[in-house]
Amino acid sequence: MSHHLLLIIHLICASIWVGGHLFIAIRILPKALKQKNPDIILHFEKEYEPIGIAALLLLVITGIWMTLQFGIAVNRWFTFSSPIERVTSTKLLLLLGTVIFAVSAQTRVLPQLKKSSGKIPEMAAHIIAVTAIGVAMLVLGSFARYGGI
Ligand code: HEM
Repeated sequence: MSHHLLLIIHLICASIWVGGHLFIAIRILPKALKQKNPDIILHFEKEYEPIGIAALLLLVITGIWMTLQFGIAVNRWFTFSSPIERVTSTKLLLLLGTVIFAVSAQTRVLPQLKKSSGKIPEMAAHIIAVTAIGVAMLVLGSFARYGGI
């Protein structure tokens, strides 16, 4: 597939992933905290999750594909030896962070959130962390066209 088409898919998915998380962090979360109502978060999560996860999966697929097109083979990942490789290896580490927060939210926080509003602050911390990581990945990606980091 052409690099340009992969980049367009990558950018659409980045809009969905980062846009959705900024929306929940800025609009949904303050409302849920103010009203002490976890259902506001749970409702948004249910609606957003299928499209959000699909976008993240496509980000990973297109991102790795573009990395390989840049000539960075798997055996060079995490060597932090060239500017574009540093961008992609850092992104993969941030992706791991995202996965850890997502698993923690799904297994530890969300089941409890359904029962009590006391878990809203912990859910808020998870949402803010994943949002910040998403923004960091977007900013890192933008460095590629300037030669990397
Ligand atoms: C939350 C996840 C991610 C977000 C929000 C994201 C966002 C972005 C953005 C905004 C760009 C800038 C494109 C441009 O300058 O026009 C980009 C580029 C890039 N991303 Fe990602 N990305 C994510 C995950 C990944 C992953 C997991 C990889 C694989 C290691 C990856 C690899 C790349 C590469 C290689 C580029 C450079 C493409 C080019 O300029 O030709 N990204 N990304």
